[in-house]
Amino acid sequence: MARACGLPERIEVLSQLELRADPRGAPLPVHRGRRLACEVSLSHRAGAVLCLVGAVGSRPGCDIEWVEPRSAAFERCFLADLEQRRLAAVSDALRPLEANLSWSAKESALKALRIGLDLDTRKVVVDSSSDGRFTVSLPVEASPLHGRWGMHAGFVWTAASPRPGWIPAAPEGGDVGSTATGRPTQCAVPGATSPARV
Ligand SMILES: CC(C)(COP(=O)(O)OP(=O)(O)OC[C@H]1O[C@@H](n2cnc3c(N)ncnc32)[C@H](O)[C@@H]1OP(=O)(O)O)[C@@H](O)C(=O)NCCC(=O)NCCS
Repeated sequence: MARACGLPERIEVLSQLELRADPRGAPLPVHRGRRLACEVSLSHRAGAVLCLVGAVGSRPGCDIEWVEPRSAAFERCFLADLEQRRLAAVSDALRPLEANLSWSAKESALKALRIGLDLDTRKVVVDSSSDGRFTVSLPVEASPLHGRWGMHAGFVWTAASPRPGWIPAAPEGGDVGSTATGRPTQCAVPGATSPARV
């Protein structure tokens, strides 16, 4: 946040940065009580945190999920028909990645629009590709949102924005989302420990 806003990256400045919440729960970056000139999205899951910072007007949304099996009921209740058809077509080994990628991309898009989970997520349609990009179509937006996804230590992360032409950069420390030959052949990175289910 300091870097995006041109503040010195010194401990006395960093210790005065805050993330407050706006009335809808979206993060509001503040320094010494004053609104900072940047926009932030935040996600936490199983001990991991993802924070996406953009310039004013970039409207960032991000999300991180542990890649774990999702139930058939979850897929039916929360994923769009197109996403369910994609899931049916992938191998059992890749199914958890595909399901969590779809879910994460939806959350990123809904956060970017400051909507949260107030919309029926089956009407929020994710179309992802193996080059680490995706689009999200929503009934409330004329144009699809564009985003980027990747994997890191057993997690899948996504970042999206409704601003035309703005595709978020990969996070610091984040691995590329896919291999040149397609999606990864396994979901969990070797050595990653499974978090407790929450
Ligand atoms: C926003 C939401 C999608 C977050 O998803 P999640 O998987 O639970 O949690 P994540 O860790 O990925 O994200 C949480 C962060 O999203 C951000 N957030 C919360 N509401 C947001 C909104 N309306 N728009 C953008 N970002 C929001 C906050 O920074 C929050 O961090 P905090 O908990 O430290 O304040 C979800 O909580 C939501 O829709 N909330 C509002 C509506 C609601 O509560 N519906 C009932 C839930 S079934």
